[in-house]
Amino acid sequence: MTTATGTTRAAGAVGTARSRLEGLAKVTGEARYAGEVPFAELAHGWIVVSTIARGRVRHVDDGPVLKMPGVLAVLHHGNAPRLQEGFVGSFGPDPVAEILQRDRVPHIGWPVALVVAETSEQAREAAEALVVRYDTEPHDVAFSTEHPARYTPEASPLGPAVTEKGDLEAELAASDVVVDERYTTPEQHHNTMEPHAAMARWDNGRLEVVDTSQGTKATATDLAALFQLDPDSVRVRSEHIGGGFGSKALARAHNVLAVMATTVIDRPVRVVLTRRQMFSLIGYRSPTDQRVRLGAGADGRLRAFDHDGVSLTSTLTEFVESTGAFGRSLYDAEAHRTANHVVPLDVPTPTFMRAPGEAPGSFALESAFDELAEKCGLDPIELRARNEPSVGPVTGLPFASNELLTCFREGARRFGWDARDPRPGVRREGRWLLGTGTAAATFPAGAAPSTAAVTAEADGTFTVRVNAADVGTGARTALAQVAADALDVPLERVRIRIGDSDLGQAWLSGGSMGTRSWSWAVMIAVDELRERLALGADIPPEGITVRSDTTEAIGALAQTERHSYGAQFAEAAVDVSTGEVRVRRMLGIFAAGKIINPLTARSQFIGGMTWGLSMALHEEAVRDRTSGALANGDLAGYHFAANADVPVIEADWVDDPDPDDPVGIKGIGEIGIVGAAAAIANAVWHATGVRHRHLPIRPDRVL
Ligand code: MOS
Repeated sequence: MTTATGTTRAAGAVGTARSRLEGLAKVTGEARYAGEVPFAELAHGWIVVSTIARGRVRHVDDGPVLKMPGVLAVLHHGNAPRLQEGFVGSFGPDPVAEILQRDRVPHIGWPVALVVAETSEQAREAAEALVVRYDTEPHDVAFSTEHPARYTPEASPLGPAVTEKGDLEAELAASDVVVDERYTTPEQHHNTMEPHAAMARWDNGRLEVVDTSQGTKATATDLAALFQLDPDSVRVRSEHIGGGFGSKALARAHNVLAVMATTVIDRPVRVVLTRRQMFSLIGYRSPTDQRVRLGAGADGRLRAFDHDGVSLTSTLTEFVESTGAFGRSLYDAEAHRTANHVVPLDVPTPTFMRAPGEAPGSFALESAFDELAEKCGLDPIELRARNEPSVGPVTGLPFASNELLTCFREGARRFGWDARDPRPGVRREGRWLLGTGTAAATFPAGAAPSTAAVTAEADGTFTVRVNAADVGTGARTALAQVAADALDVPLERVRIRIGDSDLGQAWLSGGSMGTRSWSWAVMIAVDELRERLALGADIPPEGITVRSDTTEAIGALAQTERHSYGAQFAEAAVDVSTGEVRVRRMLGIFAAGKIINPLTARSQFIGGMTWGLSMALHEEAVRDRTSGALANGDLAGYHFAANADVPVIEADWVDDPDPDDPVGIKGIGEIGIVGAAAAIANAVWHATGVRHRHLPIRPDRVL
């Protein structure tokens, strides 16, 4: 077929497996991460963090350290550049606005100084020698739902804190079957493979930051506001990123301190976090304590639904882990209530962490649903079939598509669910008890405003400029596939430029909205470009460039309830002598829009499911009440699933193109983890007959 661009149509790239475009550069070491990009005259900053959980910095004894080899500066609250008071960042007030601004120490691991030196080793040695004197104050790090400071926030960044309809107590009283249980999840920490790192320098009146960032525009905007700079004078670049998961979405201590230091010493300065510093400076997932109350008729149809979650935040700013939001699209009932509360404590500020809200929320609700199925004498999938909502339970809007049951049916077929004996604790293989479990997954499928520019070059190639971030998941490759098909040209003729705030406004890599939001902008630009080329435009040496902005186009999405869905299945073996849980297999079937690249999409789903396994069995940060510090704030003490813990995991999907998206995309970033821990907990119950409502399911809890 001859196309508008005068070529023969290549095989469609969307929907075919493609290796990452930057894969060779990554495996050969040619791809540079933020901490590796070389700069002339580069100086190195090392962060000094507080060793007390609350109080004041009385004195930073910088005199002796300034005489140490190579030391260039010691920044602290007494001499650091001033940041904007009352700063409101891209996602609201942010604790970074307090860095080195006051003597106040709000939690342990808070930055109290930055030592800058010629080499990283000199900076580290001087930072370790720096004496900081404190006046301590009593602290409180004890998370409890009964805490007197507990309050109900107005909203979380992800929606209202509370939704309510109907008379909950009356419906519960009228129910034949009631589940009323508490579920808890512990503090869990971000551990991207690439630690957070940033280089900052002033270059002809512009501030340039080379960062590891899920969204260079948001970071640039926030840095400009913090340092009261013209937004156009700040450029943030982030080409290759070793994982983000929500911890690299915004300005953080490393980039703020690098900007402070370069401003003071007028040389490029790099700041890299240590693994231990990541446990207090980049945000984490709050522990949660959730109460779920479900009331149903004898037929399993819900009459009452109540999901009430409590999480913690810092005393600096509010962050809400909105566990209560998980069920808002999944299940309806005569009386329906979801609520989130927070307790402010003297701890680091939590943040977005993969499927924020949904990951712990799904553990509680999908465990409770399994308990309800047991009490009703129904198969857990049949229980969900009986409770399929006809419209969005909270919004009342029609579903754009809801293939939850399709996922369950396809998953059941592939997992062999129909042959399952529902009785718990009756399958034994040597010293192992065996069981299987399932759980639902969902995540909102939104889009956010983005811009793009597509250029038809004089040599017949095309350049796509969109300020996307590729956190390692293959966004760059997916964008090339989308653009190639839209242009009707082979992938090789498309060049992708991403990861630079100078490319313009774009949504960040977050909320499962990255590839969708950027692709939409690319589609609009390509449409117009093809129209111009079809009119026979001559391409000048500088090419023909068309720019797009999706702000108007995405508005239509608000008219419907729009989510991705999934069904998680797991088989667990429980050692009756040690209490060890081994997951033997996992299967996830997702309905998550058009899948652009099956190769990288499968990896992303499997990555999320692996994290769910890790959450179910391993991950738990333990805070010591006396010191306020983590007892296991490093990779020696913070356990997560290693290869030997992970069985064969299969992830696949059903056809579910979004009817209102130009490519059909919904977004796949977050949903892989959702429901995975509940499926495992339900499998452990099926194996042993004992419910585990507190994560992780450690051997000592199983015995
Ligand atoms: Mo995701 S928690 O929005 O990076």
